Amino acid sequence: MAFKVKDNITWVGKIDWELRRFHGEEFHTQRGSSYNSYLVRDEKTVLIDTVWAPFAKEFVASLKREIDLKQIDYIVALHGEVDHSGALTELMREIPGTPIYCTANAVKSIKGQYHQDWDFRTVKTGDKLSLGAKELVFIEAPMLHWPDTMFGYLTGDAVLFSNDAFGQHYASEKMFNDLVDQAELYQEALKYYANILTPFSKLVDRKIKEVVGLNLPVAMIAPSHGIIWRDNPLQIVETYAKWAADYQEDQITIIYDTMWNGTRRMAEAIAQGIREADAKVTVKLYNSARADKTGIIGEVFKSKAIVVGSPTVNKGVLSSVAGIMEEIKGLGFKNKKAAAFGAYGWSGEAIKLIGEELQKGGFTLVNDGLREFWYPGEEEIANCVRFGREFVGQV
Ligand code: FEO
Repeated sequence: MAFKVKDNITWVGKIDWELRRFHGEEFHTQRGSSYNSYLVRDEKTVLIDTVWAPFAKEFVASLKREIDLKQIDYIVALHGEVDHSGALTELMREIPGTPIYCTANAVKSIKGQYHQDWDFRTVKTGDKLSLGAKELVFIEAPMLHWPDTMFGYLTGDAVLFSNDAFGQHYASEKMFNDLVDQAELYQEALKYYANILTPFSKLVDRKIKEVVGLNLPVAMIAPSHGIIWRDNPLQIVETYAKWAADYQEDQITIIYDTMWNGTRRMAEAIAQGIREADAKVTVKLYNSARADKTGIIGEVFKSKAIVVGSPTVNKGVLSSVAGIMEEIKGLGFKNKKAAAFGAYGWSGEAIKLIGEELQKGGFTLVNDGLREFWYPGEEEIANCVRFGREFVGQV
C-alpha cells in the first residue's frame, strides 16, 4: 500500500493492524500501529525512515512498485530504533551506496544494531539537504525519545517529519487527522505521550519552544506512527505543550490487585469515600492484573493523585502491583499525590513497600496508608470510606 500525502510526498510505510505488543511486552497497542515511511520527490528523491524489521521484505517489494530503487538519492534515518530502521538491511542490499543522513548518535545506534558500514552522513540542527527546489532542514531532538532522534522540515511544503513525536500507535486506513475518530486519536496520542515521552517532558517543552521560535509555517506534521496531522496541525503541538507541563486533570486513579477480594473491597470503599467528599472528581479503579497496563499509565498521567493497593504476600506485594509500580516509577511523573492501602493477614508490609516505591517515583505521599486485617468487615469498610473522604482533602 502507498498513498499520496501531497503530490510530491508518498507514504510508503506499513499499517500493522495486528500489533498488540510493542517494546517487547511493555506497550500494549490495542489499536495496532503503523510505521510511516515517506518518499519525497523533487529534483532529488529522498526516503525518510523505513519500517519494522518483520515487514522489511514487504516494504522493499512495495517500494519497488512505487519507484526504481536506483532513483532514491538519499535516505534519511530520523531515529535508529528498529521499528523505523528495521528494513534498512534489506533495502541497503539493493542500493548499498546510497547515503544515509542521520545524527551522530544515530550512526552509533544503527551501527550498533546492524553492524554495517553504510555511507553515513552526519547532520546537526540547521544542516540542510537540498532536494532541488526545496530543502530538508534537520532539527536534532535528542531524547524525544532517544539520543539519536531528529526532525526533518521540508521547505516549500512546510511539512514537519517529526518521527515518534506527535505519533500514536493507531492503525487506520484513513491516515489523516481530519478523517479519523477524534476520541480514538487523542486517546492514542495521550497514551503514547504518557508511556514514552513523560520522562522527557522538560525536553519536549524546550524543543517545542525552539521549533515554534523558528516561526516556520507548518502545513502538516507527519510522524512515524499513526495518522498525519494536516487539519490545524499545530493542535497537537499545543496539546504536547500542555502535556509537558506536568499535566493533570481532576481525577484520582485507584490501582490494586487482590487475592481473595479483601483489597478489592477496600479499593471500592475508598472510591466511595472519594465520591462522597467530592462529587466532581473522576474516580477510576483498575485491577493491575486484569486491566491494560498501558491504559493504566495513561490514566495515571491524567490523575492528580493515585491510590495503590495490594495485599501482603510473602512480605511483599502482588507481582502485578510490583510490575505497574516499576513502570510508574520509571516515568518520573511530577506534581502528583499518592497513598497506599491493602488487606493483610500476618505481617502487612505491603503498604510500607508501596509507599516507598511511590516516593521513589516522585509522588508525594499524603498519609501513612491504610491496612486492614483479613477480609474487611463493616467497621473496616467504614474506615476505608473515611480514608477516601480524607484523601480528597489531602490532594
Ligand atoms: Fe517508533 Fe522510538 O521508535
